[in-house]
Parts: sequence; C-alpha cells; structure tokens
Amino acid sequence: MKKITIAIDGFSSTGKSTVAKQLAKALGYVYVDSGAMYRAVTLYAMQHQIISKDSFDVDRLISELDSVKVSFTCNEQLGFAEVYLNGTNVENEIRTLEVSQNVSQVAEVSKVRRMLVNQQQQMGKEKGVVMDGRDIGTVVFPDAELKFFMTASAETRAKRRYKELLERKEEVSYEAVLINVESRDLIDSTREDSPLMKADNAIEIDNSNLSLKAQFETLYDIAQKVINPY
Ligand code: CDP
Ligand code: CDP
Repeated sequence: MKKITIAIDGFSSTGKSTVAKQLAKALGYVYVDSGAMYRAVTLYAMQHQIISKDSFDVDRLISELDSVKVSFTCNEQLGFAEVYLNGTNVENEIRTLEVSQNVSQVAEVSKVRRMLVNQQQQMGKEKGVVMDGRDIGTVVFPDAELKFFMTASAETRAKRRYKELLERKEEVSYEAVLINVESRDLIDSTREDSPLMKADNAIEIDNSNLSLKAQFETLYDIAQKVINPY
C-alpha cells in the first residue's frame, strides 16, 4: 500500500502527539515528535546555563550547537521512540513546565531550526511518517499528502496540560500553565522564522469537545481515504 507523509501542526496541548502516536501505530508508520527535539536543545541550554528565567546567551548556544546531538531510540515496551540528548534518555526531563517556559525562545533561533528541520526531513524521507509540531505542513514537509491543524480553546488546553503535570507529580499551578500555554502560542505564531500557521491545504480540527477516541477516529478515517481513495 502506498505510504504517505502526515503532518500535524497546531497550538500547544491540542492533543497533537496523542493522536499522532495513535495514527502511526494504526498505520504502521513512524511517529516523530518534533517538539521533543526543540525541548531537548532547550534542556541542553538550561543544563549549561545558556538560558535561564532572565537571560539567554543566543550566541553561545549557536557556537555550541555542533555539540548538541538529538536522537530517537524506539522504546519497544511503549511502542514509540523516546528522545535522547547526547546519548542520554531525556524523555521525562524535557516535559517539565520549566522547559516549556524556555523552549519557545530557543525555537525562535534560526540556526537551531535549520539544524532540527534538516534532521526531521531526513527522518521523513522514506514517507510512512506522522510528524507533529508547529511548522511541519508549512516548512518541514510542504508537500505532505495529508496535513492537519489542531485547535482547542486555551482554557481547555491548559486544563489538559495541568492534569498531565499533576499526574507527573510536578508542583505547578493551573494559572502558571495557562500563562505558559498562552505565551508560547504568542511567541510561536509571531516569530519571524517559520511561525506557527495553518498551511493552506491543512484540515482544521477543533477538538475542544472531542474525546481522544473521537479525535482519533476522525483523523484515521480521513487518512484512510487519502491512502486508499478507491
Ligand atoms: O507538547 P506541546 O504542544 O506543549 O509542545 P511541543 O510540541 O513539545 O513543542 C514545544 C515547543 O517547541 C513549541 O512551543 C515551539 O516553541 C517549539 N516547536 C517549534 O517551534 N517547531 C516545531 N516543529 C515543534 C515545536
Ligand atoms: O502534543 P500536544 O501538546 O498538542 O498535546 P498532547 O500531549 O497530545 O495532549 C495534551 C493532553 O490533552 C494529554 O493529556 C491528552 O490526553 C489530552 N487530550 C484530551 O484529553 N482530549 C483531546 N481531545 C486531546 C488531548
């Protein structure tokens, strides 16, 4: 059966990675979490005191980029790939609110984007990939056969992310999560290089009132029709 490229973009915490993983599993495709790559570079910058709450040494980050290696290794038990920073599994560390509070600034740096976009394009060159992020349908795979753009209200998204962080035993307030979701939306959609925007031919899905199951079924049905039109 022909293999296609599926690009899923959208605002923070809209359920992109959940549905992308489900789609990849159902179709036998590879799932790539592009946001995890920006988060891993951000973790490096935090670990090396390049970025903190009130300072960001962009030039130093650029000068050290050659020593930042982001990779994925499949976790057979979980059934999907986890992200590694210079050989260390950082899947948990990159999901903290602190990383979320710094990542959009790191993702504004063009040299960081060029490095990661090249890597993403390599990972998807055989097709049969579901990749989620902010610029997948516009910059990484502008020719993707199927593009989705996910939205939901900021409050719905913040509630979902807050619940997730509490389950991970992180001490955060709902207000801090909402502020983070809204400020990332703003930085991500107004930056100069590859801003978050809906590709002209992307299908918009507002999942504010969709369960995970309904959301998956909606996207899967559309994907099946594109893969197997007859
Ligand atoms: O999971 P969540 O929606 O919170 O974010 P993510 O997908 O892990 O992405 C984290 C951040 O990385 C985003 O807020 C963007 O600043 C950046 N990002 C990007 O610029 N381009 C991408 N393709 C993916 C993520
Ligand atoms: O990747 P992204 O940041 O867009 O979102 P996610 O990590 O897939 O989803 C964020 C949280 O929202 C997860 O805990 C999902 O289970 C939840 N979610 C939900 O409850 N209902 C949806 N329709 C979509 C996501």
